[in-house]
Amino acid sequence: MKIAFANLAQPATGVAVAFATTGRQLTTSAQALDKQAGGALTRAVKGSKFKGNKGQTLTLMAPAGSKLNRIILVGLGKAKDINDLGMQGLGGKVQANVAASGQTAASVLVDEIADSSLSVTDMAANLAYGARLRAYRFDKYRTKEEADKKPSLKNLRVLCPRSARAKATFAPMDKVADGVCLTRDLVSEPPNVIYPASLAKQARELSKLGVKVEVLGEAQMKKLGMGALLGVGQGSVRESQMVVMRWNGGGRGKGSDPVAFVGKGVTFDTGGISIKPAGGMEDMKWDMGGSGVVIGLMKALAGRKAKANVVGVVGLVENMPDGNAQRPGDIVTSMSGQTIEIINTDAEGRLVLADALHYTVEKFKPKFVVDLATLTGAIIISLGDQHAGLFSNNDTLSERLSKAGEAVNEKVWRLPVGDAYDKQIDSSVADMKNTGGRGAGSITAAQFLQRFTGKTPWAHLDIAGVTWSSKDTDTVPKGGTAFGVRLLDRLVADHYERK
Ligand code: BES
Ligand code: MN
Ligand code: ZN
Repeated sequence: MKIAFANLAQPATGVAVAFATTGRQLTTSAQALDKQAGGALTRAVKGSKFKGNKGQTLTLMAPAGSKLNRIILVGLGKAKDINDLGMQGLGGKVQANVAASGQTAASVLVDEIADSSLSVTDMAANLAYGARLRAYRFDKYRTKEEADKKPSLKNLRVLCPRSARAKATFAPMDKVADGVCLTRDLVSEPPNVIYPASLAKQARELSKLGVKVEVLGEAQMKKLGMGALLGVGQGSVRESQMVVMRWNGGGRGKGSDPVAFVGKGVTFDTGGISIKPAGGMEDMKWDMGGSGVVIGLMKALAGRKAKANVVGVVGLVENMPDGNAQRPGDIVTSMSGQTIEIINTDAEGRLVLADALHYTVEKFKPKFVVDLATLTGAIIISLGDQHAGLFSNNDTLSERLSKAGEAVNEKVWRLPVGDAYDKQIDSSVADMKNTGGRGAGSITAAQFLQRFTGKTPWAHLDIAGVTWSSKDTDTVPKGGTAFGVRLLDRLVADHYERK
């Protein structure tokens, strides 16, 4: 779908979308369309339940007196409640509506609204952003879908006053959407296509945007002593990889230490020798979701030329059962020197992150490190699909993440960490074990990670419940959500960019 901005004008053909606020208050453009249609729009409104409440729609087909195929009237809600997320949601709704209609082009008329806290150009830009986010579809392997089942909308025109300004406001949002779409592609691809080396290759593509990308193979990781990560991958015929991405948009000198993001990239998680049951195992293709977010985030930041120094590190492995696979009972030595007794080979994400986190904090001395991982089934029991789990040793970082999450509607909920939980992963034969017993499974997983972050401010996002969605929402079609890209882009934008 293409998106274009232009100044307000009465559209002559196709679909026209206009707005009303609560109380059936038609905007200036909606009134003009009504006039053109000989008052049919206001009559239709009067004969319906349409009040102008946020998200309500009313469709007028083939209005007499104009060449338009349809007019869609959309409720904005109360003028004073108009905000960025609300406009994104409406953009998504409009996109889905027209895409299902068979129409290929639509013009959305965005007017100045008195009492709105959002300027008209911000309204238009956010509407376009929401439409773009909703328009994502992963259909490259569907060779036989009938044409009229595919989304029809090809050209979305957003018409508003000062459209050049709206276009400029939309530009960085468009770059974030590029990152979101890359992440969604990566988590949607099947595990025979996305495996450590091919995912690393996708990350390498970011060098075109000015990201410095370095890929470590098994020989290099062995030299570095990454026994925890390598143990997970040793049962796979696919070579494990670690990718280090650097975006240096923040300049040098005092205060230029980077911020760091680390992602779990298990390209397929069978559980290994502690093998998972067959039902639903195909979902474990998206066990690389954390790494997908880090790669998409780097694309977003580089795309919009963020004025920040950012490191992204992803640990990429495939967890397979095999004659050479890791066993329960094995003891591995991590890069940090700490030894780990393997109790369950299905608790593999923390092993990958142990070495990725240690490497990151040692090598880059970042201001903070945030890791993302589809780490535990337990977080789905705790929080479902509405919040990611947040675990941290730092209140400021936690606050900032919570606020950023609210701002972009990718919400996080903080859970505790502490010494008593930490004891649950003490081992009698090694420094620690990789599972902590039945209770508090998401917390003991976080405690494990914390043992590899030293004194660096750290936060862990357990995204197992939010990485894949079974239903559409206004801006997130079902499938891979890319939860985390918008959140972390916002964290960087709000706190870590040079002005
Ligand atoms: N990748 C899984 C967690 C997961 C489960 C993500 C369901 C998404 C949906 C992880 O590697 C795992 O298997 N965790 C185990 C840990 C247990 C063995 C301590 C779990 O949660 O059952
Ligand atoms: Mn697992
Ligand atoms: Zn896993």
